[in-house]
Amino acid sequence: MDSTNRYLQSLPGNRLCHGLVCLADEQTHGKGQMGRDWLSDPGDNLTFSIVIKPGHTVQLQFLAMTTMLALQKTMIAATGGKPLLKWPNDVVCGEKKAAGILTESRYNGQKLDRLVFGIGVNINQVRFPKSIRDKAISLSEMCHGKELERELFLAMYLNRLELSLARAMDGEQELLLSVNKNLAGYGKWVSVVVNDQPMDTPVKILGVNEFGHLMVLTAEDDVRIFKKERIQIIADSAHMISS
Ligand code: BTN
Repeated sequence: MDSTNRYLQSLPGNRLCHGLVCLADEQTHGKGQMGRDWLSDPGDNLTFSIVIKPGHTVQLQFLAMTTMLALQKTMIAATGGKPLLKWPNDVVCGEKKAAGILTESRYNGQKLDRLVFGIGVNINQVRFPKSIRDKAISLSEMCHGKELERELFLAMYLNRLELSLARAMDGEQELLLSVNKNLAGYGKWVSVVVNDQPMDTPVKILGVNEFGHLMVLTAEDDVRIFKKERIQIIADSAHMISS
């Protein structure tokens, strides 16, 4: 299909239920964040979307981070590697991206009808198009070329996700600690580029708050909160993590 997100967004409400998953072996127009394309070789990776019908008000950005936390934990279990969450939407290994999430919502008037979490995970792809070659990594590459079973990975992830989402929707605080413990740059002083504008002085990454927003401490001891900004974290001159 063209895109699993587009498909689930187009379905009438009576054909959807909480937890419905749409999985595609090939997307002809996979959607990425910020209007970009999501490039994924057919048959190698996982490209799927999940319908969430929360039933009550939820902190959307935090829910999305919880979704990625479950993914990061599944990746650790499957590869033995140490991927990290990169605020707001990615799982990275070193400076390279292994997975991303695209969150979309549809409303009926004022009422939230559905959330669609679209997730792309690089599983077995080893050759990437030139435009993303230096920025992408697959789980197979994380375990030195070993081929992984996509179906097994998806099953492991969905089992973990079901629990994590329920805990997030119950407002469990421990999840926040876990998100922060697994956040790239957590507790470190880093140089940051905000919407392509480098900040004058380094900031300390304080972590994500209960809304899923990123908090940093500036050199002037002010706390600054990022909600939707595009952030690049430059750990040092040699290591860059960009969204
Ligand atoms: C990103 O990091 O840019 C977000 C990537 C999200 C890609 C997934 S693949 C399955 C789902 N369907 C889409 O069209 N996009 C998401």
